[in-house]
Order: sequence, then C-alpha cells, then structure tokens
Amino acid sequence: MTDDETIGAYNARANDYAGHVKRKKPDPALLAFIARIPANGLVLDLGCGPAASSAVMRDHGLQVDPVDASAEMVRLANATHGIGARQMTFDDLDAADVYHGVWANFSLLHAAAEDFPRHLAAAHRALLPSGVLHLGMKLGAGSQRDRLGRFYSYYSEAELTDHLTAAGFAVDGSATGEERGLAGNVEPWITITATARPATYPSGEAGC
Ligand SMILES: C[S@@+](CC[C@H](N)C(=O)[O-])C[C@H]1O[C@@H](n2cnc3c(N)ncnc32)[C@H](O)[C@@H]1O
Repeated sequence: MTDDETIGAYNARANDYAGHVKRKKPDPALLAFIARIPANGLVLDLGCGPAASSAVMRDHGLQVDPVDASAEMVRLANATHGIGARQMTFDDLDAADVYHGVWANFSLLHAAAEDFPRHLAAAHRALLPSGVLHLGMKLGAGSQRDRLGRFYSYYSEAELTDHLTAAGFAVDGSATGEERGLAGNVEPWITITATARPATYPSGEAGC
C-alpha cells in the first residue's frame, strides 16, 4: 500500500529532490543498465521522481515509461523533460511481458516489507523474458521514517538476493556505497542488477 506521508513529503520537496540528484555525476549503474537494453527497447522507470534517469535513457535511444505516485514529481518530470511521466503507484503495476527493463532506483525502499515481494513479482511479470531489473535500496535492517516523514524499509544484501531469487530473478551483480540523502544523513546503499528468469509452470500446465 502506498504510504501517504512519504508521497506528501515528495510532493512538498519535488524541486529540492530534483536539485539534489542533479548535482550527481553520471551514474555508472545507469550507463551499465542502458548497455544491456536493446536499441529502442522499452524501460519502466518505477518511482521515477523527477525522471532524470529516464531523460538519460531517452538520450541513449531507449523508450521510457516514467511513473511515480507523487503528482508533483510527475508534473516536474514533464515540465523539465516533456517525457510523458504518469501518476501510478507500485500497486498499480499490472503489465505483463511488456518491458525490456525495469529501473527501480531507490523507490521500492519506500514499500512496506510485507508488500516488497509482491512488487518484485509484479516487476518480474512486467518484464519480457530475460528482461533486466535494476534495484537501488538502502542497506540495514527494519524500517523507520526519516526527519522529512519518508518511510523506509532496510535490507541486507543477502535478504535482497533471497527476495529477488524468490520473485524469479537471477542476480547478476551489485555495487555498494554511502551517500548523504535529502534528509541530511549519510546511509549505506546498494544497487543490484538482475535478469528475469522465465516463469515456470507446475506440471500439467503448459503455460502457453
Ligand atoms: C528517492 S526517490 C527516487 C526517484 C528516482 N528513481 C531517482 O533515482 O532519482 C523515490 C521516489 O519513489 C516514489 N514513490 C514512493 N512510493 C511510491 C509508490 N508506492 N508508488 C510509486 N512511486 C512511489 C516517490 O514519489 C519518489 O519520487
């Protein structure tokens, strides 16, 4: 379920957040992700924020579908990049076999732990066979709100690997680091790249 207080915090600080991510250097994880998507391939930017990543992907010749629960983020993304961002929550993702890639960069960390497996399964369903998932999360344990009111769930790398495997992904690689976020505190993060394994069907169901 979408956390209203988190979305309210992003609605109130969309410009601040856009300025925060703008100062960063080109993201090597984004460039590596782009390299794995076929030319003109379609990518879902799940929890796109101001759609800075979508704009880079579009500049590299990809088709993008930036979505976010925050109306203000969607407005800002479209005003800045004219990129067709639309308001959609993680719960609304019901596409099947559509995307070559799903870019979920530090967005699913706002989902409650009990919802996380369902959102990963929805991302897997949305991907074409052998589609690529990028997942950016914060490392740690448990959950908490930051001083801006944003809700976070934290995981270890092993827990994330287990969740991804259970959702039908094969983990390809990861990178870790530490960074000061919009709330001002320095926290460890992880990005993981994974490939969607084909769905398996119980014997007797052909799956065709
Ligand atoms: C830390 S920002 C990341 C934005 C962008 N992916 C980036 O890398 O800059 C998290 C984004 O997730 C969005 N978000 C949080 N909960 C969501 C939900 N339930 N459904 C869709 N988007 C959500 C927020 O509105 C916010 O724009």
